[in-house]
Amino acid sequence: MHHYLHIRSRLSVSSSSMARGQLLQQILIITSLHLISLSTQQETNFVYSNFTSQENLYLDASAKVLLPSGLLQLTNNSDYQMGRAFHKKPIDQSITSSFSTHFVCALAPKPGVEGGHGLTFLVSSSLDFSFAQATRYLGAFNASTSNVLAVELDTIWNPEFNDIKTSDGHVGIDVKSPISIAVAPSSYYSDTRGKNVSVNLLSGNPIQVWVDYEDSVLNVSLAPIEAKKPSRPLLSQRINFSDIFPDNRSELFVGFSAATGNAVSDHYILWWSFTTSKGGGGGSQLDISKLPRVPHPKPLPTVRPKAPRKKLPRWIIGLVAFLAVVTLAVLAGVCFHRRKKFLEVSETWEKEFDAHRFSYKSLYRATKGFSKDEFLGKGGFGEVYRGSLPQGRQIAVKRVFHNGDEGVKQFVAEVVSMRCLKHRNLVPLFGYCRRKRELLLVSEYMSNGSLDEHLFDEAKRILSWKERLVVVKGIASALWYLHTGADQVVLHRDVKASNIMLDEEFNGRLGDFGMARFHEHGGSAATTAAVGTVGYMAPELITMGASTGTDVYAFGVFVLEVTCGRRPVEPQLEGEKRHMIKWVCECWKKDALLDAVDQRLGDEFSPEEVEMVMKLGLLCSNIVPESRPTMEQVVLYLNENMPLPEFSPYTLGIGTFAPVLVDAASLVVSSASWSWSASSSTNHSPYAYQARDQPWGQTIETKDSLHIVLEPEKPKTQTLSSAVKAVTLPAEDLESNLSSISSQR
Ligand SMILES: *[C@@H]1O[C@H](CO)[C@@H](O)[C@H](O)[C@H]1NC(C)=O
Ligand SMILES: *[C@@H]1O[C@H](CO)[C@@H](O)[C@H](O)[C@H]1NC(C)=O
Ligand SMILES: *[C@@H]1O[C@H](CO)[C@@H](O)[C@H](O)[C@H]1NC(C)=O
Ligand SMILES: *[C@@H]1O[C@H](CO)[C@@H](O)[C@H](O)[C@H]1NC(C)=O
Ligand SMILES: *[C@@H]1O[C@H](CO)[C@@H](O)[C@H](O)[C@H]1NC(C)=O
Repeated sequence: MHHYLHIRSRLSVSSSSMARGQLLQQILIITSLHLISLSTQQETNFVYSNFTSQENLYLDASAKVLLPSGLLQLTNNSDYQMGRAFHKKPIDQSITSSFSTHFVCALAPKPGVEGGHGLTFLVSSSLDFSFAQATRYLGAFNASTSNVLAVELDTIWNPEFNDIKTSDGHVGIDVKSPISIAVAPSSYYSDTRGKNVSVNLLSGNPIQVWVDYEDSVLNVSLAPIEAKKPSRPLLSQRINFSDIFPDNRSELFVGFSAATGNAVSDHYILWWSFTTSKGGGGGSQLDISKLPRVPHPKPLPTVRPKAPRKKLPRWIIGLVAFLAVVTLAVLAGVCFHRRKKFLEVSETWEKEFDAHRFSYKSLYRATKGFSKDEFLGKGGFGEVYRGSLPQGRQIAVKRVFHNGDEGVKQFVAEVVSMRCLKHRNLVPLFGYCRRKRELLLVSEYMSNGSLDEHLFDEAKRILSWKERLVVVKGIASALWYLHTGADQVVLHRDVKASNIMLDEEFNGRLGDFGMARFHEHGGSAATTAAVGTVGYMAPELITMGASTGTDVYAFGVFVLEVTCGRRPVEPQLEGEKRHMIKWVCECWKKDALLDAVDQRLGDEFSPEEVEMVMKLGLLCSNIVPESRPTMEQVVLYLNENMPLPEFSPYTLGIGTFAPVLVDAASLVVSSASWSWSASSSTNHSPYAYQARDQPWGQTIETKDSLHIVLEPEKPKTQTLSSAVKAVTLPAEDLESNLSSISSQR
């Protein structure tokens, strides 16, 4: 009506003859006024390029505008939500004849989660949607009918609502109920490709939707954001508006709704234009570059695909692991080896001796790992090595291997107590160390070796008589000290030339304390084996055991050894010379005592001195213990402070060689149980002799000395080095000696 009037007035004005400029101005003002009134009353046009300004918006339920992007969010990713947004102002009745709307939406599910349920464009007679339900009712309907026209972008297949099953969602037209009266898979007709192209509603990407109504036909189209409006609508459906909205007078509202259920999506409207003018819309006003960005929901941590980490090749990992294992194994092995190498045995009873204990490690270092270069010799019971302690002190380390730990305690106690013994003719003992089956004795290093080297080793300088006398006097003094000078009586048990060491001034020093005894203890404690060295053992040793007297006997043999320069028993010599004591006595009987003197001394000696010393040797080696002097007396005789007692080579017990003297009683009693068997493998030895029926025991020859071990119960050859040879002295000598001794008794 106004329109016509306006045109008519314009025509009338243009036909008048008034001043043109004035008239034109008037006309323009009138025209613009009329246009404004037209748009407010007869047409509705609006564009939401974003939703930052919310004054024209009616937001319902969970719908909200995200700032600062201005993105309209109908629902977030929570479940069972619905949200609605309407243009607040009602649209006038012209909508019933035609309208066009164009909007951009996005449905963004979480990756890996089923998206849903979808959104609708709504034309409603009311803003009151309290009846509406979420999930499949899309926040716009309930089970009953309501005065609503909806265009749905549905992402869930609900067959009862005429939905169609597609992988990308579907588009439908719903009138008064969620049951679609028209439905199509979400797609668009592409002119360029000449076919329908599917549009995934849940891609999260912006989608353009066009809804056009004219001449009772509702067309619906959609397309990706970059595409133009399709030339053919996806849906074209005849709609009777007065059927949907019976009350012609009622106002109508336009807007959107969306809902989630089990399946959730973010539902967004990015841009929206609406017009009721015929042929309006068309999407020309859409500027894609100004659209707010759609936030893509962060993936759930549980379903988040793992960031493709740079993976090392398997073989490298394997190699590294292998190397690590090998390194660990080697380290562990080294540690274990070191531990084992330096492992010591220490028991609680040793606590009190701690001060005298050396660590195996320090001894190992001092002897350069018991190297061959430091090897000094093999003694009766062990190997001796030279060593130097960090302070530069020279030591000798004797390594004794033993089978059992029995007797070790007593031996260690004795060793430690011997530390307290101080005499210039004793080898100073520093301490000990103990390992499994191994005992180490640390003493001072004697630079000039042992006495027997200087008596029998042709390579060494032969000692003069003066030097020999000094040594003999020194050893006598040491034994005197041991027997009487210390707190308790100390028995050496193995006095012989090879156990006497020479210091740098050629002083004799008695060493190897208690070794024989230790060896005895090393065996079974039940046995009462007499241990010593054949030729040096007093005959009563077997029955009476060790005493100061047995030490005196050995000293006597030693004195003769030094004077005669020969060993007590030399089996290779013929007849009377074989046994030193016997021979010396024979010489005396012939009144030619000096015949027995070491020929190597020449005549550089005092005959009186030598004769006196030889007689003293015979006196000490008397087989009758009571007839032997004490060490105190020996020292007095040697220093000529006291003359030797009167005795002759025919005196009872003088000059009688008896390796062992077994008295008749013990012989009878024990002969049945004694077992004598030299190892058969050693029978080839020139001195080997099967003493199976002989009661005086088994003698064992080592490199430089003869040891005798007597056992009442069982042979104990296993306690001795397997390298030793079983040897006994010629049978007839032993028998004759024994019978002569027996008859003398
Ligand atoms: C649907 O909503 C209407 C009001 O619009 C109400 O009367 C009706 O009871 C509701 N139906 C259901 C099933 O909720
Ligand atoms: C394209 O889709 C429409 C609507 O679903 C359908 O009617 C038409 O047959 C389809 N055309 C092609 C080529 O698939
Ligand atoms: C709806 O689509 C048909 C063709 O499918 C077309 O002829 C008609 O003009 C369209 N109407 C509107 C309002 O776009
Ligand atoms: C629309 O529906 C109303 C009432 O339901 C009816 O009177 C009218 O004839 C219908 N118009 C068309 C074009 O179908
Ligand atoms: C004895 O020891 C001293 C000092 O160590 C040394 O000078 C001398 O050569 C040694 N004598 C012999 C015979 O070894």
